[in-house]
Amino acid sequence: MRDVLEIDRDRLEDSNPHGAQTLVDRLAACSPLRRQLLGAGLGALLGRLGFGVGLGMTGGCAAPRGPAARTRLGFGSVALDGRDAVTVPEGYVVQVLFRWGDPVGVAGAMPQFRPDASNSAAEQALQGGMHHDGLHYFPLDGARRGLLCVNHEYVDDGLLHVGGQLPWTPEKVAKSQAAHGVSVIEIEARGDRFELVRPSRFARRITARTPCTISGPARGHRLVRTAADPEGLYVLGTLANCAHGATPWGTYLTCEENFRDYFRGPEAPSPHELRWGLRPRDAWYRWSEHDERFDATKHPNEPNRFGWVVEIDPFDPLSVPVKRTALGRAAHEGATVVHARDGRVVVYMGEDARGEHITKFVSRDPVRPGGYAANRDLLDHGTLHVARFDPDGTGEWVPLIAGRHGLTPDAGFADQGDVVVKARQAADRVGGTPMDRPEWIAHDATTGWLYCALTNNRDRGRMSALPVDAANPRANNLMGHILRWREDGDFTATRFRWEHFVLAGDPQAEQPEHRGTIYGDYFSSPDGLWVDPRGILWIQTDISTGSLGRDEHRRMPTNMMLACDPASGEIRRFLVGPPGCEVTGVVMTPDLRTMFVNIQHPGETPAYRSDPTHPARFSSWPDGAGMRPRSATIVIRRADGGVIGA
Ligand code: FEO
Ligand code: CA
Ligand code: CA
Ligand code: CA
Repeated sequence: MRDVLEIDRDRLEDSNPHGAQTLVDRLAACSPLRRQLLGAGLGALLGRLGFGVGLGMTGGCAAPRGPAARTRLGFGSVALDGRDAVTVPEGYVVQVLFRWGDPVGVAGAMPQFRPDASNSAAEQALQGGMHHDGLHYFPLDGARRGLLCVNHEYVDDGLLHVGGQLPWTPEKVAKSQAAHGVSVIEIEARGDRFELVRPSRFARRITARTPCTISGPARGHRLVRTAADPEGLYVLGTLANCAHGATPWGTYLTCEENFRDYFRGPEAPSPHELRWGLRPRDAWYRWSEHDERFDATKHPNEPNRFGWVVEIDPFDPLSVPVKRTALGRAAHEGATVVHARDGRVVVYMGEDARGEHITKFVSRDPVRPGGYAANRDLLDHGTLHVARFDPDGTGEWVPLIAGRHGLTPDAGFADQGDVVVKARQAADRVGGTPMDRPEWIAHDATTGWLYCALTNNRDRGRMSALPVDAANPRANNLMGHILRWREDGDFTATRFRWEHFVLAGDPQAEQPEHRGTIYGDYFSSPDGLWVDPRGILWIQTDISTGSLGRDEHRRMPTNMMLACDPASGEIRRFLVGPPGCEVTGVVMTPDLRTMFVNIQHPGETPAYRSDPTHPARFSSWPDGAGMRPRSATIVIRRADGGVIGA
């Protein structure tokens, strides 16, 4: 039998293989109708009643949507054809801007990409990393010139090195670490294209070896002290940088997601290590073989130093990234920042693992004028909450504060440092709702709705896993769903009302529970979400490579990006990626005439690690003609220079 780690990236991405801790309690808390539904099998019931009716009975339910409302979408739907290309609607043009291996533009240090992957680790640390994910545009001159921050989430060692993992050397570990993290690049419009400004005084790479400081409740805490850092103040590097956020004071937030994949776990893990998915064996990336700090059997607190939201000042290339522990530790997806009326900020976060939670942080203090210099500690003081979604369509933000709601020393929470390092356990204890892998959260400033993509959860409703509930209504949730809520008052409120926005799926799927409730183009596994300033919701998909084009996903050979006008509810396909890619990360210039999107791991193989002897087997995008595929940031514009999507 093949090693599950070799074949199941979807499983690999899930850092909670054990399920959350309080399933029986939660099931018992369900209404009689819920128990009836569970007994009957929700899928069959939905099939009989139709989804709208079924969901209306079990939880918040969006009003029916359809052609009655006039759509604001002004482009033709793109077909899913499986071509080795990025396809956009007629009248739009795509430009490749920033690929893995392109020099970021540090003066005097701009090594060119070597197509045979023979760049050294030192060169990689000056080039774009692999597997682009979240990104944000910080204007320097409106829509003409700005900084792009780009996350590099993880690597494919089969593509990254000559010979892949054979042999496995310290230099390859260093190169793998250098291909993680964040790029800061300066870009400007030249004619009808965007180009990197090189050299640029802003150009920077942050990698898995860049020194970062720890701030907030876990700073100096006993759970983050190590032999190399006995005071618990500094960490080398940030990694697993998935989605992102941006603050009103002009900084970038990069979010550490699947950090446990980098650690060799102990043979007999503690309950804490088990809860965070550490495995009693070497990890997928094999860093511990040549970098001992990733061996958690020798350095058990090192994993506690990852899983944070990290704040970066993109305008100061010498600034030190800061791990903001008040926001809680998680397999973080993103950190969506909104500004409350009283001046405080609220940060919404999803934890992408089966049965994990949606959280929000409410700052203690209002934002002060004066940029980052005046707000350096703003994310260090405030209250972390976890969402509980009740079956009646309401919900509560339950605070995670040491000494309250059972977060006592007896339960393992002696102080707030314990609460934030063990945020999963804290959320379990206070009754946070375990969700179907929360990915991005997006805020619609025109309506106040907050949207969260629940990407999928094959384990939902199965033996020994989570039962279905109102907020996560489908057993074997292959397709995922998007849920939305509005706060009762301002963002700082403790209660909210929620509803299902759409259940993803394909109307031609064999099983009724996989057909979804989409009005418009079918899709699965929503992940990236962004609402632009007009209120158009952009949806990006991450169907795992092992599922693309197969079984219930047979009509989805590639991942895609869609647009939705929430007023009409119509969802229309805007972009189709090359084979094996994930489409993730989207932002526009302030004039809405230029869009930046990341294409992650084009050509990824069903084994999730490329054969180094055939690197271009599944894709040669974007360089073409047998070249190895490269993750890249692309630029999308209308040929006539008009507003995107209209
Ligand atoms: Fe890195 Fe949950 O996507
Ligand atoms: Ca994601
Ligand atoms: Ca995903
Ligand atoms: Ca991916």
